[in-house]
Amino acid sequence: MSDTNAPATRSMDAIVSLCRRRGFIFQSSEIYGGINGFWDYGPLGTALKRNLKNAWWNDIVDRELLGPDGKPVDIVGVDCTIIMNPKTWVASGHVGGFNDPMVDCKESKARYRADHLACICLNGQTEGGQIYAYVSGDDDSLARARKALDKYCKRTLQDTDVATCPFSALSAAERGITVGPDAKTPGSLTEPRMFNLMFETHCGAIRDADSLAYLRPETAQGIFANFWNIVDTSRVKVPFGIAQVGKAFRNEVTPRNFTFRSREFEQMEIEFFIRPDSANEWYAWWRDQRFAWWQSIGLAGENLLLRAHDKDELAHYAKTGAGTSDIEYRFPFTSPGFGELEGVAHRADFDLKAHATHCGKGDKMRYFDQERNERYFPHVIEPSAGADRGTLALLCEAYTPDPARPSGVYMKFNPRMAPIKAAVYPLVNKEGMPEIAESLYRELRREWSVEFDEKQSIGKRYARMDEAGTPYCFTVDGDTATDQAVTVRHRDSLQQERIGIGQVKEWLRERIG
Ligand code: GAP
Repeated sequence: MSDTNAPATRSMDAIVSLCRRRGFIFQSSEIYGGINGFWDYGPLGTALKRNLKNAWWNDIVDRELLGPDGKPVDIVGVDCTIIMNPKTWVASGHVGGFNDPMVDCKESKARYRADHLACICLNGQTEGGQIYAYVSGDDDSLARARKALDKYCKRTLQDTDVATCPFSALSAAERGITVGPDAKTPGSLTEPRMFNLMFETHCGAIRDADSLAYLRPETAQGIFANFWNIVDTSRVKVPFGIAQVGKAFRNEVTPRNFTFRSREFEQMEIEFFIRPDSANEWYAWWRDQRFAWWQSIGLAGENLLLRAHDKDELAHYAKTGAGTSDIEYRFPFTSPGFGELEGVAHRADFDLKAHATHCGKGDKMRYFDQERNERYFPHVIEPSAGADRGTLALLCEAYTPDPARPSGVYMKFNPRMAPIKAAVYPLVNKEGMPEIAESLYRELRREWSVEFDEKQSIGKRYARMDEAGTPYCFTVDGDTATDQAVTVRHRDSLQQERIGIGQVKEWLRERIG
């Protein structure tokens, strides 16, 4: 990766603004002032996200994948409902335990996740002085807190004068002298209280406890609840996987960082069912497989990280077993740190056992392994990725400032991910050029998403495609009618070459598949 695209030089504001301007991503219901934590994808963003989800589905479900033993891996797809029988969420642990600690500010009316707040104060002055809270990872919030502390101390403090601690470590007395990130007076932040992240709704006309239902907070439970249906109706045998792509909903306390933490988002999840004694082997294979996949679609380089969870980070279902790893990306707003794109977890037999118990059938629902002539609840390796976070990572990685270009920037998407694969232009709008260009456009359009444009100067048309991240532009000029060739312009190198008009399709196929 070039230096100009190092995360520090990529401003999130500039990326968000390009997304808005070029129709990648809009605020949901923007005409009414938007709604916090919800985002819409415009034409280019929809194509980008669809390319990501299609690549995932093709590479996981459709194409041959060879497992750790060199044999083809069996994975089938499902498409489950967003609203399920609410008992599902009791069994999965979400009703009882899917909570975040929430803090309200009585003065500013803002709401924060307690585990996202940190505090600063003058060294050794947690009593009698004043403490300032800020949103960790938010440089502006920290800068405001530092300024307020300086003002309170009536001098410019050095870093060594300042002590930092998490908000959750404060005593009640210390909270009483703490000023909230968006407040002026101390004591405005409430005590943290637990908040369930599931969105509630009601099924049917009567809104009472009996009709209460939830929007799914993960797609995984639809897969687990269908495990027995799939075993009974398909020819799958352990080891095998079930894949699903779909919406999930979480009433996040503080949605932030563009689409990174949204209240409605899409997941791409695989539950891979294995014999209990093969967890280590499959866990390591899936972890490496998934990391290599993100690299293959353009996140190669030092912005991508594979990080094993520490013991104290493990989810309740992964406390024992082969482990959990996160595949993380260095977003501009996390830099120099990283943010999670996908988790790969050994969930043991937690979910299948829980559903068997809660539906009342218990051990009768154990899987029968014909080869071994034994019954057991299969263990699960779960690679669970976010389609919106993946799309955001592709956007951040692609954003390449280039002052030499009229657009000032170009989007360096991997050609497989590019929303528009190619553009076809007549150099000028006369002398038979538009007709030849349109005929080439129609031919390419049968296979790929291609754009035809005959308006504006050629420079302006190239600039539009640079911002859309289109890897190749073909231009029909005054010589095309005689030499039967067009000029192809490469987005990244800006180099141009001449190729026969009859070879364009094959040329493109070789480069974008
Ligand atoms: N079934 C396991 C599970 O749901 P998770 O780590 O909570 O695990 C998996 O979610 C992925 O879903 C994350 O790695 C992330 O990419 C995406 N995700 C989770 N919460 C999200 C949110 N609020 N906004 C956008 N994406 C989110």
